[in-house]
Amino acid sequence: MSSEFAVVVRDLVKTFGDVRALDGIDLTVGTGQVVGLLGPNGAGKTTTVRILSTLLAPTSGSVQVAGFDVVRQPDHVRRAIGLTGQYSAVDEYLTGAENLRMFGGLYHLDAGYVKRRSAELLDWFDLSEAADRPARTYSGGMRRRLDLASSLIASPSILFLDEPTTGLDPRSRLGLWQVIKDLVAAGTTVLLTTQYLEEADQLAQDIVVIDQGKVIAHGTSEQLKDQIGGDRIEVRVTSIDQIAQAVAALAPLSSGEPIVEEDRVFTPVRSGSTVLMEAIRSLDANGVGVEDLVLRRPTLDDVFMSLTGHAAETEPQPVATGRRGRKK
Ligand SMILES: Nc1ncnc2c1ncn2[C@@H]1O[C@H](COP(=O)(O)OP(=O)(O)OP(=O)(O)O)[C@@H](O)[C@H]1O
Ligand SMILES: [Mg+2]
Repeated sequence: MSSEFAVVVRDLVKTFGDVRALDGIDLTVGTGQVVGLLGPNGAGKTTTVRILSTLLAPTSGSVQVAGFDVVRQPDHVRRAIGLTGQYSAVDEYLTGAENLRMFGGLYHLDAGYVKRRSAELLDWFDLSEAADRPARTYSGGMRRRLDLASSLIASPSILFLDEPTTGLDPRSRLGLWQVIKDLVAAGTTVLLTTQYLEEADQLAQDIVVIDQGKVIAHGTSEQLKDQIGGDRIEVRVTSIDQIAQAVAALAPLSSGEPIVEEDRVFTPVRSGSTVLMEAIRSLDANGVGVEDLVLRRPTLDDVFMSLTGHAAETEPQPVATGRRGRKK
């Protein structure tokens, strides 16, 4: 069993009839790492996670989790992983504590162990006080925490989280991020899917961007941002007549083609702390009146836009009102 990689996916394909949901995905997750699988609605995130957790058979390609083949050794894989699915697995009519006991039963864990572990998880997820209330009385954030707690009952070394914070308010989201960070600090390997760039940025060391079943980019958040051309200076001139002078003044700093829009110039520039000062000096020396000047680092939104041609989700959507995004 390889200990260097917790997950190795090679050329993974999944078709549903005519739909090619996954079209040759390659992916690795190093042991102890957090990888974010980022993609819009219908990109193939859930399909990937379901195959990795042995719930769905691949059409072709190979998938190893914890060193075991998901098709030939599914029992070994299941023993190593925890899964928090996109939709809640919580039983509404059972209490928080009963839900955890039920999951312990599914894993055939010893009753005494389950009792101790449940108390520990309820405490950690701030659910001790609500432990004896039916889950249907829980808020969205509490349910999500119970979901995550359930997937941890058997102390898995590898955790799959499918859109862990979709539909949560910003505060519950921050709370859940902290829990995920704590898990990672304690040595758990995590593969999480998200359509939120900020979530990938916050949690993942490595980000794999997928769209329409294909990997379209891969790297750290910084690498992805660099990939679309590093920093950018945006200048608004006082008088539109000076726009050509502004372009000329910025040319020596420029690392690519400038874009002019009315009284604004957008110039890609090399990274560095002195570039802003140099821009101000050069504009001044060329007699260009400046209304506004900013140095902007690309966001993951810019990356997403430039890679996919459409914007990503930026705001959490309430679960009940359904899902926004690209129509298929
Ligand atoms: N059981 C199925 N039968 C037919 N098509 C399916 C099935 N499951 C998924 N698909 C299709 O596969 C593609 C990928 O779906 P998937 O659920 O993996 O996307 P996703 O990235 O998880 O999207 P979302 O962000 O909406 O959860 C979509 O086109 C979807 O309609
Ligand atoms: Mg999904």
